[in-house]
Amino acid sequence: MGMMDQDILKVLYTEKQIAARIEAMGMEMYGALKDKDPLFVSVLRGAFIFMADIVRACQVRCDVEFIAVSSYGNATSSSGAVKITHDIQQDITGRNIVVIEDILDSGNTLHFLKQYFMTKGAASVSICTLLDKPSRRTKAITADYIGFTVPDEFVVGYGLDYCQKYRNLPYIGVLKPEVYSGEE
Ligand code: XMP
Ligand code: MG
Repeated sequence: MGMMDQDILKVLYTEKQIAARIEAMGMEMYGALKDKDPLFVSVLRGAFIFMADIVRACQVRCDVEFIAVSSYGNATSSSGAVKITHDIQQDITGRNIVVIEDILDSGNTLHFLKQYFMTKGAASVSICTLLDKPSRRTKAITADYIGFTVPDEFVVGYGLDYCQKYRNLPYIGVLKPEVYSGEE
């Protein structure tokens, strides 16, 4: 038992469940992407662990890039404005982009990124998210590949953080309410 487990109220998806789901997603994506020379773009920091697993589960010839964005707001919700803090390093004209994200929540981040890549000349932009929280959506956006549809709860682990911590939990869970005390 690690030192962070005591902060977890409940586990939503175990390490084994996540691995099995990613295996299936990877095979589905292989079928769709094998002739597309895709460019996988991971959204930092939350998707870094998912990125590592999904590119190995989907054995297509591909390249990888990383983009970092920040959205204004408090620790558990975003306000809408998205800013790129680290951009991709290559020309994407004519490329088939697959955005790899940890969670699709309000849709602000992915709505922005989809527009951004299309404006830069991508041939297509598809979205692969480990988690989808459709109950909180404010932008009309859906993912092409979804790991799990989650209820409206703030989740941590497997890349997802609370105040930059818990990203290295191997499972996805919900924090105990007392962990949040202090946030407005
Ligand atoms: P939007 O609202 O732009 O949100 O779709 C996407 C980003 O918001 C963060 N987010 C979460 N992070 N647990 C987290 O650790 C959550 O339950 C959660 N919901 C949204 C996340 O950074 C995601 O990229
Ligand atoms: Mg994120």
